Amino acid sequence: MYTIKGCLFDMDGVIVDTAKHHFTAWKALAEELSIPFTSKDNEALKGLGRLDSLEKILQLGNLELNSNTKLKLMENKNSLYLELVRSMSEEDILPGVCGLIEELKVKGIGVCLGSSSRNASIILKNIGLFNLFDGVVDGNHLTFSKPDPEVFIKGAKILELSPSNCVVFEDAVAGVEAAKSGGFFALGVGDHKELDNADAVVSDLSKMNFSKLLEIVNRND
Ligand code: G6P
Ligand code: MG
Repeated sequence: MYTIKGCLFDMDGVIVDTAKHHFTAWKALAEELSIPFTSKDNEALKGLGRLDSLEKILQLGNLELNSNTKLKLMENKNSLYLELVRSMSEEDILPGVCGLIEELKVKGIGVCLGSSSRNASIILKNIGLFNLFDGVVDGNHLTFSKPDPEVFIKGAKILELSPSNCVVFEDAVAGVEAAKSGGFFALGVGDHKELDNADAVVSDLSKMNFSKLLEIVNRND
């Protein structure tokens, strides 16, 4: 019987749908550099940090730039992204998320954010969820981006829990890989085929609750 003592949530794509805003902002940057960039290309950036994402886009255009130019491009992309997420509110929280986190808190389960985004705190505050988390680990605290497990290992440390007692909720292949290599139970949220490296996959969290989570985790035991 698997004991769940903590849950670590990725933010983008699990708690809130920001992928469309990242896409708009990266697309503007790609257009400026005359690099073709599709929504499929954007999928491959899910879970990656900002610099890793930029590097992938530059590879698409076979472009090599110096670090100052890359910094400037990332700054511009982020300003546009921040403009786009400024209007986000609690209405943008994905279905089932609030209910699940509230239930976990009532049951005494540790709840932590594990995101590659440097904008996580701003977004959590905009959507009114910041105070619900026992800890927030985001891109500002990381040396290594997903698929490195650092983000979740740091989260488990804040919760003072062993990874083997924690479930990670992830929508990205890189995030699932991070959870698995850190020794967590990786629950994929999204497409079964895409997230086939996860321990289990659900299409979304709309019907998720603690007893269902226990059932899923122990089914895999
Ligand atoms: C998340 C998203 C990525 C994004 C990364 C960095 O992991 O899934 O698409 O590139 O965060 O986000 P930031 O807000 O710091 O640019
Ligand atoms: Mg994500």
